[in-house]
Amino acid sequence: MCLLNGHTPVEVTGSPEIDRLLRRFVAGLPLPAADGPPSGPANTTQTARIFVTETDDVPGAYGVEVTESRVDIRAGGFEGAVNALTTLRQLMPAQAWRREWSADGGGWAVPCGTVVDRPEYGWRGAMLDVARHFFPKSTILRYVDLLAAHRFNRLHLHLADDQGWRVESRRHPRLHQVGSWRPSTRLGPDGVADGTPHGGYYTLDDLTEISAYARARGITLVPEIDVPGHTSALRAAYPELGRPGQEQAVLDTVWAGGSSISPTPPVVAFLQDVLEEILDAVDTPYVHLGGDECDMSWWADDAAIAAEMSEHGYTDVKQMHGHFLRSLGGFLATRGVRMVVWDEGLVTGGVLPDTVVMAWRGHEVAGRAAASHDVVRAPLFPTYFNFDQSDLPEEPRSEGGPITLDDVAAFSPAPAEWPDDMRDRVLGGQFQIWTEWVPTERRLDYLAFPRACALAEVLWRGRVTDLPDFERRLSVHLERLDALGVDYRPPAGPHPWQTGGAGVWRRSGPGQIEETKKWVESISREP
Ligand code: ACM
Repeated sequence: MCLLNGHTPVEVTGSPEIDRLLRRFVAGLPLPAADGPPSGPANTTQTARIFVTETDDVPGAYGVEVTESRVDIRAGGFEGAVNALTTLRQLMPAQAWRREWSADGGGWAVPCGTVVDRPEYGWRGAMLDVARHFFPKSTILRYVDLLAAHRFNRLHLHLADDQGWRVESRRHPRLHQVGSWRPSTRLGPDGVADGTPHGGYYTLDDLTEISAYARARGITLVPEIDVPGHTSALRAAYPELGRPGQEQAVLDTVWAGGSSISPTPPVVAFLQDVLEEILDAVDTPYVHLGGDECDMSWWADDAAIAAEMSEHGYTDVKQMHGHFLRSLGGFLATRGVRMVVWDEGLVTGGVLPDTVVMAWRGHEVAGRAAASHDVVRAPLFPTYFNFDQSDLPEEPRSEGGPITLDDVAAFSPAPAEWPDDMRDRVLGGQFQIWTEWVPTERRLDYLAFPRACALAEVLWRGRVTDLPDFERRLSVHLERLDALGVDYRPPAGPHPWQTGGAGVWRRSGPGQIEETKKWVESISREP
């Protein structure tokens, strides 16, 4: 055993960021009970020292060697150091995951031994829809901590949709002034408007803070502005960007058809302004432009769009969809940023050679995308964690399912039957939480955990090789989630307060996941 506490000396051969990371880690450890000067003999004789050496191993890879007198960390870049310290904390008692704790015995005891590890996938992500329901910045920062604890390294924030625009724009302020709130919300297709205003947005400074906070924990923020569909909130603010003569409100419901904007140069210029503001605020090599589920039915009849189409020799509005995304992607490239799109973008040609395709409509489309592009796997089944977690009637109302812990554990991002060149194009995967029916942080916790633990294992190791062993380790890990204050779903079923009860959250019926899986594959060849 070695002992680590708040006075543990550290030495770093590497970047100043790793030095800062390590000092913050140590500062969070319990102080020894003994009085005495912080660096005096009473406090340093027992504690080991931590040495970190930065290596040029793959980002995220690391080694941790613990002896009685020292901890030696070899870190593949900053992410490797983050992951190594996560491992070190995992070797401590679960109480070490609390924000503050005074350990008996002068610190935390860590067993001696060696861990050498590296991630299978470089993109280990989580998408959070903050448009359908807004989550305050404090929730996002806490979510970052929880993701980092599971070695996720991407936080994809879905910042704009029909139900809300969630980021400040100083150049086009009606976006956040008008687009960021709605007077009411309906729960589901047959829902009654609740008459309660809902809204909120992140200032550009908030985004800068979230981005920096995430970076300091090894996580890259991927902001998404979903265009040219899903734009009712945008159009409520600036109706002239869409179908002439058609007013639009921020939607209060999930299903009633969202609107789309015009794919013409003035709209592209407007969005470039917005993206420029976001890129000035966020330190990221990726911006997601959406591209999914766009209503193009009115485009052919619009004179400005028709003129644009004939200028480019296009005969189908789908080509305009592709053209529009490529225009914005070209702009992002001037800032050294790669465009990410949902897989509809692949279908309409809305991709540049280095575009990352986020494949959500099942599995076959991911294979098609991997033939030409880098792919992030985000299939509805099994990565839409807003779906039910079991068939129990007590599960709270959701959009479908079930998608169980075991389903997630069985997921293979790059299936063995794919040829190597396609498997190599799979950057990784991510889970999504769409929040139409997720109004609170507690519901978010319930849906994310423990399924996120299974996906973390899949993305780190490639797959869950031994389910009973994973479940045994998960039962230990749940103690850490308890220490972190996570309102996860217990494996045996929801707590009474997590069920749907008898009111509006009561589950309306079984989720029919097999039909949903077929449906999502069936739509994957059309934009
Ligand atoms: C999506 O679910 N429309 C990406």
